[in-house]
Amino acid sequence: ETMKSVTGLADMEKRVADTLQVQRVIIVPENSDRYSWVKKELGRACVQQMKEMLVPDDIVAVAGGTTLADVAEMMTPDSNFNNVTFVPARGGLGEKVEIQANTISSTMATKANGKYRLLHVPDQLSKETRESLVLEPGIKELLRSIRHAKMVVHGVGAASTMAERRETKEETLDTLEQKQAVAEAFGYYFDKSGHIVHKEKTIGLQLDDLQENQTVVTVAGGASKGEAITAYMKYRPSDVLITDEGASQAILGLL
Ligand code: F6P
Repeated sequence: ETMKSVTGLADMEKRVADTLQVQRVIIVPENSDRYSWVKKELGRACVQQMKEMLVPDDIVAVAGGTTLADVAEMMTPDSNFNNVTFVPARGGLGEKVEIQANTISSTMATKANGKYRLLHVPDQLSKETRESLVLEPGIKELLRSIRHAKMVVHGVGAASTMAERRETKEETLDTLEQKQAVAEAFGYYFDKSGHIVHKEKTIGLQLDDLQENQTVVTVAGGASKGEAITAYMKYRPSDVLITDEGASQAILGLL
């Protein structure tokens, strides 16, 4: 029985990898929309990948969200995490402190016995403030670390869920509706073809700066995220996708 379901997941991993053109897909059982322990399993699988792929002295940029918070919760030390630095991928995106990238970086670092650096920038910034902030030596240095990150670990959300969870301006909500946004990642919103339709204004990682040699690990599960994951992967297939059966069924059109 157990063997059968493991084989079933392996087969599903291949099909999802083909559909999304993602090199490596890891699927954990069940649907995180239904059970919260599934998100912890996504976290555990992600920590395992990080242990396999990172080497001492690497920099890892991490995003926010409840899934990444579970990755942080499942973090344990490893010899490969020697002197690894955890940095937030981007500045504030209107999330609660518990699930902000800063908080997640520091929790991961503490649990991994690594180091961390924080990015202290308010959520809503005028263009002028952003332009002068990025010239501050401390922030400049941190932005350099983000650009040099060996690995970027992030979540994906359904556009409407994310727009609601953040305090999104009416004007932006209109844009998202008009342009039929279905996915969100890093503060960017995407339509179902994977085109960027809106970008939240904060500093840090810019998606078009991502280099080929940086490993992008996407962690997102739940049937409700199937459409969002598919759309986001059309923008740029990640190197690794860690997801669950629920999302996979939606991605494969089985629901
Ligand atoms: O707001 C940070 C963020 O990483 C978003 O980019 C993403 O859509 C969301 O969190 C995922 O959140 P959750 O893991 O709670 O679904």
